[in-house]
Amino acid sequence: VVLGVDLGTSSVKVSAVDRQGHIIAQESFDYPLMQSKPGWSEQNPEDWVNGTTVAIVNLILKDGLKPQEIAGISYSGQMHGLVLLDDKHQVLRPAILWNDTRTTSQTQEIAEKMPDTFLSITRNHPLEGFTLPKILWVKENEPEIFKQAKTFLLPKDYLRYRMTGKLAMDYSDAAGTVALDVAHKTWSEKIQTVFDLPASFFPELIESTDFAGYISDSYATFSGLSTATKVFGGAADNAAGAVGAGLLKSNMVMSSIGTSGVVAKFEADTNVDYSGDIHFFNHAIPDKYYSMGVTLAAGDANAWFKSVFGQERNFKDWINEAEQSAVGANGLIFTPYISGERTPYPDADIRASFIGVDRTHQQSDFIRAVLEGIIFSFKDIMTIYDREGANFDTVVAIGGGAKSPLWLQIQANIFDKKVTTLVNEQGPGLGAAMLAATGLGWYHTVEDAANAIIKFGQTYYPDPEAVANYAQIYAIYQKIYSATREVS
Ligand code: XUL
Repeated sequence: VVLGVDLGTSSVKVSAVDRQGHIIAQESFDYPLMQSKPGWSEQNPEDWVNGTTVAIVNLILKDGLKPQEIAGISYSGQMHGLVLLDDKHQVLRPAILWNDTRTTSQTQEIAEKMPDTFLSITRNHPLEGFTLPKILWVKENEPEIFKQAKTFLLPKDYLRYRMTGKLAMDYSDAAGTVALDVAHKTWSEKIQTVFDLPASFFPELIESTDFAGYISDSYATFSGLSTATKVFGGAADNAAGAVGAGLLKSNMVMSSIGTSGVVAKFEADTNVDYSGDIHFFNHAIPDKYYSMGVTLAAGDANAWFKSVFGQERNFKDWINEAEQSAVGANGLIFTPYISGERTPYPDADIRASFIGVDRTHQQSDFIRAVLEGIIFSFKDIMTIYDREGANFDTVVAIGGGAKSPLWLQIQANIFDKKVTTLVNEQGPGLGAAMLAATGLGWYHTVEDAANAIIKFGQTYYPDPEAVANYAQIYAIYQKIYSATREVS
């Protein structure tokens, strides 16, 4: 058995997976998000360690998993979060998370100091969510704390450190710091020089399937795990999610609805150039890449709307109510920018809108407009792929958007592509388990693991009439960002 630890933003989920890729047990634990000021989003790294440990203890005590049967562990981690450590590897301040947007002035500073080279080195623009601007924010705003900082880790790397006692970061997550030279797989010396950060501040880099260490004596005592269990690098949640969704061929795109939403595409090499309009990161597979656009609030926009207007309802009924509306929500359009947006508008200040509210609109129209608005924002990402001539014919839907037949059909119709689901979709946790299984040598490569484990399920085909309707509505949707930017 291997464990895939999915360290998310709202909870950690640990899955025990057998050699055939079946989930034999799963435990999760929730932890809070601290949003003490507008735009701030922090978490206590100790909560990740404790939550993971509770889940592991439950797997052993409640579900009867035997510690000596656990051959390997690997991770999928929420990306970009900054965990600052002192010389004794103690955490210096709460982690600043991917969805924290306090760093606008640092992103501008980076763009000004490296106008020509930043994009070619990191393959990305310096956006608020990424880690380097967060490092500079602490340096500028909390100099006393920064003085004590000797190194930093990303969330799942900190968790791995606490379980093994070894510091390391894998390439797929390191790419999301925007301090990595993505094509050469080294920390960028240029960035270190320009921002006066010593090379020693940057942790050792490893592959996602690399052996990172054994479970340490102290963590074995704490959790009940065995010190014979091998721990492997793991990956950024979007890379691990891509592995768990079988996103391993260039004709495939993944549409994932979690708290945030992601449209990601497998990239065989570094030759493509999206001019930074789409992120470009190292994959969890050595020397492969993936590109992606992010909608900051996808599932979160739906969850927010339901929490305000449908608190007592269950999710399935709530979404099904949208069936009482019609394609295009009877003229109501929603933009999902409740926490700002990332792709295609890197804009932390934009806010969401309902456009075209009419006296006749019902709750069902509002629910449907929210579901459609989230997918229109995914369509914006696909429009960039179209512009750059990136060819793909299959969209693999995962996450919340793959649980509802209605939402899947909305995706097929708005994308005008066939949309496929996975049988027994298990998301990034399964991807993490596949990385451990490959690291252990159960499979030769991650691709072999995917061929053995991942099965595609039902396919949803675009309906020509709805496609034509949505094309007209999308043309209006595209105008809303610039029309509301001044006033929202
Ligand atoms: C990706 C991003 C989010 C997080 C969620 O750039 O910020 O998708 O990875 O954990």
